[in-house]
Amino acid sequence: MSCHKAQPREIAASCAVVFLALPHTVAMEYAPSLLKLGVKVIDLSADYRINDPAVYERHYQIPHKDAARLKHAVYGLPELYRADIASATLVANPGCYPTCAILALAPFLSCGAVDRTHIIIDAKSGISGAGKKITRDLLFGEAHEDFRAYKVNAHQHIPEIVQVLARLAGGDVGVTFVPHLLPLNRGILETIYVTKQKGTDLQGLMSAFYKTEPFVRVRPQGEFPRIKDVVYTNYCDIGVRDEGTRAIIIAAIDNLRKGASGQAVQNMNIMFGFPEHLGLR
Ligand SMILES: NC(=O)c1ccc[n+]([C@@H]2O[C@H](COP(=O)([O-])OP(=O)(O)OC[C@H]3O[C@@H](n4cnc5c(N)ncnc54)[C@H](OP(=O)(O)O)[C@@H]3O)[C@@H](O)[C@H]2O)c1
Repeated sequence: MSCHKAQPREIAASCAVVFLALPHTVAMEYAPSLLKLGVKVIDLSADYRINDPAVYERHYQIPHKDAARLKHAVYGLPELYRADIASATLVANPGCYPTCAILALAPFLSCGAVDRTHIIIDAKSGISGAGKKITRDLLFGEAHEDFRAYKVNAHQHIPEIVQVLARLAGGDVGVTFVPHLLPLNRGILETIYVTKQKGTDLQGLMSAFYKTEPFVRVRPQGEFPRIKDVVYTNYCDIGVRDEGTRAIIIAAIDNLRKGASGQAVQNMNIMFGFPEHLGLR
């Protein structure tokens, strides 16, 4: 089989849906022509996740080339936007860090159970989160047996996290986000610190919010997920420590599954009316 440059017309002749697993800025070169030809698009890059083109330009250092379409793209987090995904033609598959953070915080921000102005997300990802590009920091000899923070409170996923959390909370949110590089192939674990409102039962809220979700597993009070629980799966596992005025939420996903390809397949299943777990369990 020979490989050649992707031709939208050729793709449209045989495909109902295309997954774009391209670097950001490249995806928005392919999506418009595919959509015009009637093909549904699930974009795994950041190109259609940010609603405001000025915010996109600020964080991705390039003007958006398809800005008019941003308002039509549906943010593909099934647990929050399932109904919109079902009728979407363009789905912006969420980033890996945002998937984990938003799922961990959604049950609380959507009902005002925690202070939305002061959220600390301490995030760690395995190396595959950076894709396959060759950079010195990601070489085996550099990353193996090391652990370090990078892009401290300056990561390009911050505007995406803030955008979705603010929409859920119904107002501005204050987020401190510190990513770290784990010397592992895959997996994300995020430890999130919040201040709770008096009298709220966070464990109860979390369990109720995800009661019927096929891919979110809430741990009993005091139990927390580890990366080994979720790698090679489409699950997001979450544990809550809810004491006094402070609460700690720990969530884990596989960055390449629930954080990327698995979630993209989950979105396709919803868009085409297939059982949501098809191909994912
Ligand atoms: N890795 C993760 O954990 C993760 C999680 C969520 C979302 N994402 C996002 O998903 C997308 C893909 O991620 P990845 O980790 O698979 O990235 P990757 O390892 O860097 O792969 C990117 C792919 O895009 C191809 N490509 C680059 N420029 C192209 C062009 N102009 N035309 C056609 N193909 C081109 C590359 O082809 P060659 O093989 O020829 O270089 C490569 O196969 C990215 O936008 C990333 O941000 C990644």
